[in-house]
Amino acid sequence: MSPEEGNKPADGGRMDVGNYGASFSRATNARRGLWLLAYYGLFRPSPKIFYSWRRFLLRLFGAKLGKGTYVHRTAMIELPWNLEMGDHSTIGPFVWISNAKTLRIGVHCVISQFSQIYCAGHDIELPGFDRIEEPVTIGDQVWVAAGAHINHGVTIGEGAVVGARAAVFKDVPAWTVVGGVPAKPIRKRVIKGGGGNPSPESGKQ
Ligand SMILES: CC(C)(COP(=O)(O)OP(=O)(O)OC[C@H]1O[C@@H](n2cnc3c(N)ncnc32)[C@H](O)[C@@H]1OP(=O)(O)O)[C@@H](O)C(=O)NCCC(=O)NCCS
Repeated sequence: MSPEEGNKPADGGRMDVGNYGASFSRATNARRGLWLLAYYGLFRPSPKIFYSWRRFLLRLFGAKLGKGTYVHRTAMIELPWNLEMGDHSTIGPFVWISNAKTLRIGVHCVISQFSQIYCAGHDIELPGFDRIEEPVTIGDQVWVAAGAHINHGVTIGEGAVVGARAAVFKDVPAWTVVGGVPAKPIRKRVIKGGGGNPSPESGKQ
């Protein structure tokens, strides 16, 4: 069977997606239920500037947040206990974080509005549409621009920029600007006037 042709399941049956919804354990679902109550009751309705209140709620549910972190009230963090965020990093409005596995965000990062970061997906070639769960790592000083998609298992290198609307399915090298679907390198990111990328091989000329 060539990849161009595709095929039905070998037994002549059909895809059975009936069980993939039951992906979390009962304990996880219970904890998630409590979090969603807190999220929709306390986190989401909070005034925009109540960042410390939202930090408190996220930490209460196990998030590891550095100092000076900002999470917008409309951002969705599905499982806060799988979120690690370094100092002075920001998660913007309407960002969707689906983190069945750990999402690590470094220091001084900006995750801009409407971006989506997924630590889970599905194996499209198994009849049960089985879940795939892999961590995502975002290095220090990264900008994920508006509306980007970051797929499970991906590592974004230090100082990289993911352009608006890019879809990232492969690791992004440090201090590299990527864009498009699928995301490809556009150029190196070079920080002017000192600071940022210090090593000669990381993009600074
Ligand atoms: C990625 C980005 C920072 C690059 O900026 P830049 O270095 O000034 O890039 P340029 O405008 O010089 O474009 C360089 C090339 O990359 C392309 N390009 C730029 N951004 C792109 C993107 N997001 N996706 C695909 N291609 C992109 C340009 O079309 C251009 O292509 P060309 O050389 O064939 O003409 C910027 O384009 C971007 O996506 N910014 C996000 C803005 C945003 O999200 N704002 C809201 C949150 S505050």
